[in-house]
Amino acid sequence: MSDKEKKQGTNISRRNFLKGVGTGTVAATVVPSVLIGSEQAAEAQEGGAISSATIQLNINEKSYEVEVEARTTLLTVLRDGMDTSGNNVDLTGAKLICDRGECGGCTVMVDGQTVYACMMLAMDAQGKKITTIEGLANGDDLHPVQDAFIQHDALMCGFCTPGFVVSSAALLNENKTPSLDEIKDGLSGNTCRCGTYPFIFDAVKTASRKM
Ligand code: FES
Ligand code: FES
Repeated sequence: MSDKEKKQGTNISRRNFLKGVGTGTVAATVVPSVLIGSEQAAEAQEGGAISSATIQLNINEKSYEVEVEARTTLLTVLRDGMDTSGNNVDLTGAKLICDRGECGGCTVMVDGQTVYACMMLAMDAQGKKITTIEGLANGDDLHPVQDAFIQHDALMCGFCTPGFVVSSAALLNENKTPSLDEIKDGLSGNTCRCGTYPFIFDAVKTASRKM
C-alpha cells in the first residue's frame, strides 16, 4: 500500500471507501483472462523484444489513450498507468494482492463479465467496456451493493472489498435473486483473509432485494 493510500485510509469515511476504493462480488465465478494466447501481444513481442503500442481503453465510460508494452496487464494500467496527455489513470480500487489470479482483489468487469485484471493483458482489453469499483456509483449515489456492504459492516481490513463488491454487482446483474448457495458460488473467485464471508453474503442478499 502506498503512503498516499495509507493516508487516505486514516481520513476517509466508510461510505467514501466503499464508493471509490472498496467493495464487490461475482455473478458467475470470476473467470480470469489468460495471459497467453493474445495474437496482438504475441506479434508485439516478435523476435523476443518487448515492444509497445498506443491503445484506447474504455474505462468507466471514459476513453483513455495509453502506451503499453505487450506484457502490461490491465491492472497495471488501472493502478499505475498514465495517458498520453500525462494524466495518471489513478483507478486504484482494484487491488494488486496475489498477482496470479487467485485472490480476486483485482476483480473488474469487462463487457459485464468479471475478470482478474492482473491476468488480463491491457492489449486484450481494447474495444471492451471496462468497469471498475470506481464506476459502480452514480455520482453520490452508491451502488446497492456498496450500500449493503456498509449496512452489514461487511469488511474489516477492506483490502479484498473492491473485488467482492464488483463480483457481487456482476452476480446480481445476472441473477437478481440468488440463493445463498448461488451467492457462495458466484463469489468463489474472491478470498477474504479476515473472514467476513457471512456479512458479505448477507449484504448481497440485502442488495438483491433493493435491485
Ligand atoms: S491480484 Fe489478481 S487475482 Fe489476486
Ligand atoms: S476484509 Fe480483510 S481481507 Fe477481506
